[in-house]
Amino acid sequence: MPPIIQAENLTKVYHVGKVEVPALQGISFSVEHGEFVSIVGPSGSGKSTLFYLLGGLTRATSGRVVIDGADFAKLSDAERTEMRKQKIGFVFQKFNLLPTLTARDNIAIAHDIAGKKGPVDEAHLKKVASMLGIEDRLDHRPSELSGGQQQRVALARALVNRPSIILADEPTGNLDTKNSDLVLSMLRQSNKEFGQTVLMITHNPEAARYGDRIIHMRDGQIVPAEADPQWLHSAQTAPLQDSK
Ligand SMILES: Nc1ncnc2c1ncn2[C@@H]1O[C@H](COP(=O)(O)OP(=O)(O)O)[C@@H](O)[C@H]1O
Ligand SMILES: [Mg+2]
Repeated sequence: MPPIIQAENLTKVYHVGKVEVPALQGISFSVEHGEFVSIVGPSGSGKSTLFYLLGGLTRATSGRVVIDGADFAKLSDAERTEMRKQKIGFVFQKFNLLPTLTARDNIAIAHDIAGKKGPVDEAHLKKVASMLGIEDRLDHRPSELSGGQQQRVALARALVNRPSIILADEPTGNLDTKNSDLVLSMLRQSNKEFGQTVLMITHNPEAARYGDRIIHMRDGQIVPAEADPQWLHSAQTAPLQDSK
């Protein structure tokens, strides 16, 4: 089977007035089906830019993104959108919940957006909600939930359709330790139990250790772990997390 995610020599240049900001400078890697890969790097290293490109939310300046054998550049906008809806569950640092909907409807909306036929799989929705400890919060609106609960709702929304790929950009960025652990454990469980491929971006070395493999970024490039001072520092000061 070909890799489920392939990034080939990706570059991205932002234009701010006459200034060019080279956010990605030739990123190549691939992720196999069923892997949990963490991408770690300091703020400004290009992680979110990479996330948008891999999710088909923006276009690369050059290079290719191939998802499950399909080259994004060869798809029409409509096809790319469809691919994204069917195959990818997104988790963002900001939870992006709709304020007027209950938690349950915020989760179920993923089903409507993906244009799935028939009703949402209530049993699976309930299962995911209970794994995330929000089963008794499903009738609440986001304003009635803590930040950690809102992120768990957002994660349930990303998981409810069982997408083959979960892309998460700083999913624990706004969370306390307890909620971070819950979210990270759920991502690991989605990976190990449901076989979903997870690509998680984080600037937190401890969170990154939940992955099976860690890719380090710096200044828009992939670098060896030794070139990541934050990583080395954390490795010296913090013992490894429980290793699965
Ligand atoms: N929309 C944008 N317009 C201009 N520059 C941007 C934009 N988004 C990000 N950048 C710049 O690109 C670089 C990488 O940013 P980003 O991908 O957000 O990194 P990270 O997620 O690792 O913090 C930074 O220098 C940032 O300022
Ligand atoms: Mg970012």
